[in-house]
Amino acid sequence: MGQITWHGHACTEIRTDDGFRLLIDPFLTDNPMADVGPDHFTDGLDHLLLTHGHFDHVGDAWDILRETGAQLIATFEIVAYAGDHEGVENSHPLHIGGGYQFPFGRAQLTPALHGGQVAGENAGPYSTFPAGFLLELNGGTTIYHAGDTALIKDMELLEGRVDVALLPIGDNFTMGPADAVRAVEMIDPDTVIPIHYDTMEVIEQDPRAWARDVGDRAEVVVLEPGGTHDY
Ligand code: NI
Ligand code: MN
Repeated sequence: MGQITWHGHACTEIRTDDGFRLLIDPFLTDNPMADVGPDHFTDGLDHLLLTHGHFDHVGDAWDILRETGAQLIATFEIVAYAGDHEGVENSHPLHIGGGYQFPFGRAQLTPALHGGQVAGENAGPYSTFPAGFLLELNGGTTIYHAGDTALIKDMELLEGRVDVALLPIGDNFTMGPADAVRAVEMIDPDTVIPIHYDTMEVIEQDPRAWARDVGDRAEVVVLEPGGTHDY
């Protein structure tokens, strides 16, 4: 059995049923919602995935990568920045629509409609497209982490392919609750976990009210930071 742990905001840890440990968007030190710090991962991490370059997603990524030697998976430009300026040597670049077979399964970058800045010193030339991740794990489970995005018609292309979807509901910087319900309709996942809310005042939401709005379209799992979902 595999396990998904939500660490607040968009930060998601995945332990696969064949023993790989993945971490997505590790915004921890400056995240008031985070239940753990970056040292939670120093006892072993296989891959660190970044959906885009904003500070609330990169977070502690460079420190964790240098400390653990985990492999960075992100867009070409983020990987280039990490190698040129952050001392990250173990990395694998992808780009939107492209996927690759990793030891844990296939990771594919999906479109996201959002901002492309990379947070960091001298990061100007490295601005890039934001993305989501479609992870087809070896055990047969497919997880979709949407990243930061508006509701986009491209989500219809995922219909029937996703077991667990992690969708932003915060509004203001990403799609809000009503559009996230439409995303559930379009993707039709078995299970959906709301993310990217309550971290700051402008994205405060009621995830249980959202779960009622989703209704029987999918199983909604509302996690507290540190909460887990077995798949
Ligand atoms: Ni963002
Ligand atoms: Mn964000």
